[in-house]
Amino acid sequence: MKKTLRINQTAIELDLEPDTPLLWVLRDEVGLTGTKFGCGIAQCGACTVHLDGKPVRSCSLPFEAVPENAEIRTIEGLGQSRLHPVQQAWLEEQVPQCGYCQSGQLMAATALLQDNPQPTDSEIDQAMSNICRCGTYPRIRKAIRRAAELQTQEA
Ligand code: FES
Ligand code: FES
Repeated sequence: MKKTLRINQTAIELDLEPDTPLLWVLRDEVGLTGTKFGCGIAQCGACTVHLDGKPVRSCSLPFEAVPENAEIRTIEGLGQSRLHPVQQAWLEEQVPQCGYCQSGQLMAATALLQDNPQPTDSEIDQAMSNICRCGTYPRIRKAIRRAAELQTQEA
C-alpha cells in the first residue's frame, strides 16, 4: 500500500504492508527512534505521537488507518529550532529517571496543553494515562504546570 505522510513537516512517500503499525513505520522505515516500544497493546503510552494534533498510540495504529497526507509529529519534531516550553519545563523540573517513557509523556503533555492551556491537577491526571515504571508522576505534574506558565509568558 502506497501513501504519503507528512512526518515532522516533511512529506514522505511510503510503500508498506497495510497492517504495519505506525510505530514501526516511524522507527524502521523513517529512522525516527525517539518514539519507544513498550507494551505493544495501546496501554503504556511509550509510543505516543501526534496524528493531526491529537495524541495516538502508534503501536496499535496500522498504516492503512492513517489518513493520506496525515500530519504526524514525533518527539524529534517537537523542538526543532528551539526547545518547546514542555521540553524546557521537563529540564527545569528534572523529570526523567531512566527516560524510556519520556518521549511519550512529552507528546501526551504537549497535546494536553494544546487543548487545555491551564489544566488543573485532576485534568492532568485524567489526560496523562502514560505509564512510568520509574514513578516520575509527581515531577511530570509539576513540569506540566511549569510548561503552562512558560506558554502563558510566551503568548
Ligand atoms: S507501546 Fe504503544 S501503548 Fe505501549
Ligand atoms: S522515567 Fe523510567 S519509565 Fe519513566
